[in-house]
Amino acid sequence: MITINENYLRLQASYLFSDIAKRVAKFQQDNPQTDVIKLGIGDVTKALPQAAITAFHKAVDEMADDASFRGYGPEQGYDFLREAIAKNDFQAREAEIAADEIFVSDGAKCDTGNFQELFSEEAVVAIPDPVYPVYLDTNVMAGRSGEFTNGRFENIVYLDCTKENGFVPDLPQEKVDLIYLCFPNNPTGSTISKEELKGWVDFAAENKALILFDAAYEGFIVDESLPHSIYEIEGAKKVAVEFRSFSKTAGFTGTRCAFTVVPKECLVYDKSGAEHSLHALWNRRHCTKFNGVSYPVQRAAEAIYSPEGQAQCKELAAFYRKNAETVLKTMSGLGYFCMGGINSPYIWIEAKGGSWQFFDMLLEKAGVVCTPGAGFGSCGEGYIRISSFNSYEKVVEAMERVEKTLQ
Ligand code: MLT
Repeated sequence: MITINENYLRLQASYLFSDIAKRVAKFQQDNPQTDVIKLGIGDVTKALPQAAITAFHKAVDEMADDASFRGYGPEQGYDFLREAIAKNDFQAREAEIAADEIFVSDGAKCDTGNFQELFSEEAVVAIPDPVYPVYLDTNVMAGRSGEFTNGRFENIVYLDCTKENGFVPDLPQEKVDLIYLCFPNNPTGSTISKEELKGWVDFAAENKALILFDAAYEGFIVDESLPHSIYEIEGAKKVAVEFRSFSKTAGFTGTRCAFTVVPKECLVYDKSGAEHSLHALWNRRHCTKFNGVSYPVQRAAEAIYSPEGQAQCKELAAFYRKNAETVLKTMSGLGYFCMGGINSPYIWIEAKGGSWQFFDMLLEKAGVVCTPGAGFGSCGEGYIRISSFNSYEKVVEAMERVEKTLQ
């Protein structure tokens, strides 16, 4: 008899964004005349930057010729891309990350979800609330949680992110082993200062804990005092892994390319307390379970580090930021408390009621899709998230409809 991993039975019904997509599809089927505007899942709408497209085409042509064709590439990514990343994303910010500490992958979702595999089932996991659901769900699948009672899993240390703490969690009071942080934050759009982040790095060092830092939205930072990478913080290379993505900053949601930084000096421990290299462990896993990102995609990613590519990505971020500004202005103008939307493509809005009720009301009355905050955790109840990823015209129209509905 084939038996299942019963940890899966503890998971909540379905993945948040699939659940929303189903509800929207049903609404659309019942109301075919409504032109639904989607400001729910953070999926980009603008074409790839021209620099990426040119490199993509050229690489496809190389694959069409026996002389320049490439088969399996290195699992960790081609040197040309790893070097461009190390130089532009880290060394340029005085974060001393080397090319061979970078693992190119097909998405930050997969990497943030897969990374926990390296740790024991007993590892105590600290997860912000609200949070991108992947961190929690993958730890539940791995058996690190107990039952789900009163809106929370047993054995998980929840880091409450509330209006009171500016949606930046306080350090845990108890001992934890694995800490998830995401800044600029998904879903709240909050940011963390270098001083606050230093507090987390010191905490991890004191407790021999590891920080998994998701920086997928760093490309939206405009406030130059904010850290783009955790490695801008002294001591972070010993205690932190960083996840980055080309999805939101270069429009790669459908193209798929991301990377994870695992510094060589980062140490983890076995039961006896003996030290092990995290880099070696992740490399072992990556080579066993992953065969690399396709060559044309890596060439397209490399091209975004060219001067033209960088300028085009800045334009993309500015485009979505203008949308975010429009949402922020409308919702604050209507008297709603808002967070984010400045160094982030997401606006976190206090709903003055239940978040699913607000979601249903916006969908039914305005034909606008948002994401209910409760889907990101119990501290998200009473909030909704609006994403700025859509065309400017659609965002303006969505806000006009929302204004009419809520006034
Ligand atoms: C989101 O809307 O939170 C993200 O787009 C989801 C993702 O990146 O997987």
